Amino acid sequence: MTRVPFICGNWKLHKNVAESVELATAIKNAVGPIRDVEVTIAPVFTALYAVGKRLEGSSVALAAQDCFWKSDGAYTGEVSAELLRDVGCSYVIVGHSERRQFFGELDAAVNLKAKAALAAGLRPIVCVGESERERDAGETFGRISAQLEGSLEGFGQEAAAKLVIAYEPIWAIGTGRTATPGQAEEVHAFVRDRLKKQFSAAGDSIRIAYGGSVKPDNARLLLEQPNIDGALVGGASLKADDFLGIVKYRSG
Ligand code: 13P
Repeated sequence: MTRVPFICGNWKLHKNVAESVELATAIKNAVGPIRDVEVTIAPVFTALYAVGKRLEGSSVALAAQDCFWKSDGAYTGEVSAELLRDVGCSYVIVGHSERRQFFGELDAAVNLKAKAALAAGLRPIVCVGESERERDAGETFGRISAQLEGSLEGFGQEAAAKLVIAYEPIWAIGTGRTATPGQAEEVHAFVRDRLKKQFSAAGDSIRIAYGGSVKPDNARLLLEQPNIDGALVGGASLKADDFLGIVKYRSG
């Protein structure tokens, strides 16, 4: 099964509009001729429209970092999947561990968000990952399994074709402590198995991206693993050279 590698820069809470457009422009210009990798960037909400305009006509896709599950209504502060589509997004990250950790997001909410994304024509990037405590206690697979079950509840084969899963071990995020290729592949293979159980053959086509201290110098070994089909990049996505070094991992 050939899966086109999916590399997404998650800019988190960084960069104003001008800085975002500048970085997006550098990425767009460099990615132009690259066809064997799908590149996506996820700026802050306030920069989405301007970055989306700048990316028009390029192969770089726009992602949001979160969405709400209702289309509209009295929900102060929220942004719907439809509005994200309106400003040019084609992907949305849901269930990032920082949302789970700092905003109390549970699998049931992640599930609603992913469903709302699909209904609005967006492709959800559903994040899962264990904490250091859970890994040390031997609970990694149980945790990942529960997150997948809760987040993907009610999803059928049609949804599977649109999904990206991101495995982001919390202990590897922003710590410089990357999971070894072997550690990551072990969990990715487990995720693949679960996806095939839920979606049959379609589970084979779902890309499973790894996130957690991905850098230009470790991207290649990670992405060469059979079930690692991409990367969700935080810190290293904030500098064009670093991010492009990951995008061009094959030549690294
Ligand atoms: P870092 O690459 O900074 O570890 O962040 C990973 C991440 O959370 C991407 O979503």
